[in-house]
Amino acid sequence: MAGVPFDQRDGEIWFNGAYVPWSDAKVHVLTHGLHYGSSVFEGERAYGGEIFRLEDHTARLIKSGEILGFKIPYTAEELNQAQRDLLARSGLVDAYVRPVAWRGSEMMGVSAQNNTINVAIAIWEWPSYFDPAERLKGIRLDMAKYRRPDPQTAPSTAKAAGLYMICTLSKHAAEANGYADALMLDWRGYVAETTGANVFFVKDGVLHTPKADCFLAGITRDTVIKLAQARGIEVRERVIMPEEMSDMEECFLTGTAAEVTPVSEIGPYRFEVGEITRTLMADYLNEVQPKSSTMPMAAAG
Ligand SMILES: Cc1ncc(COP(=O)(O)O)c(C=O)c1O
Repeated sequence: MAGVPFDQRDGEIWFNGAYVPWSDAKVHVLTHGLHYGSSVFEGERAYGGEIFRLEDHTARLIKSGEILGFKIPYTAEELNQAQRDLLARSGLVDAYVRPVAWRGSEMMGVSAQNNTINVAIAIWEWPSYFDPAERLKGIRLDMAKYRRPDPQTAPSTAKAAGLYMICTLSKHAAEANGYADALMLDWRGYVAETTGANVFFVKDGVLHTPKADCFLAGITRDTVIKLAQARGIEVRERVIMPEEMSDMEECFLTGTAAEVTPVSEIGPYRFEVGEITRTLMADYLNEVQPKSSTMPMAAAG
């Protein structure tokens, strides 16, 4: 599938309650979501035929819509079922799941009080590959020029398409400088997150991660905090100043796409891929497996 443009793939897309051929799932150019960023979405991953933490992603999608002032016209259970059904129809087992909701075309102006809310779900193959050797080298991050906005400037906790404009700018700039991604500070100058994942540091056996008060509180972040605590690792959610990175021993990212990805450098700062990072990488990959397939044989049937 690599290289095939996303509007030319095979399969079906769930579009406002109907299954439509992939290439027919189109919106008009005069769509409010396109012009004014009135769109929210989720990024989910299916492992072994089950969407990991589906209910939490759906709840966040609905919440993101509410934060943008609109109500998604399907219940959480309808959205969950649509995603499960589409995954089953796709025949895919390890896949990426992308629900998106946006304001339609009835009004074309800043105000769009009466626009319909549209919802689509697309699923594409995303094998759960894991090449420990490559990943364990750690990725290199640049420091982003743009900062995560003040919650009084933008609805910063929503997974809203408009907030990704500065992420794309930051990621493109990092890639142009030869880095994999960029670390963004927040509006106060504190460490925040990367363009598509949350960040953790390890120092003296303790995990440190920024308080998610002006950026996306990742579902993977939450899973990893619980996995660390289950191992007796202390987790401190707190303000992290950029210069503190010089004392941190390990660093990793968490996200649906990133899973747990070690980081070897951020701008001038260097990190080792250490024991805690490796342990949480393994714990996370174990956690995302469908629980039914990890049941002991004796419990089956
Ligand atoms: C900006 C940003 N931060 C954090 C995350 C991690 O969120 P999650 O773990 O829910 O995928 C994502 C990925 O969706 C993201 O795009």
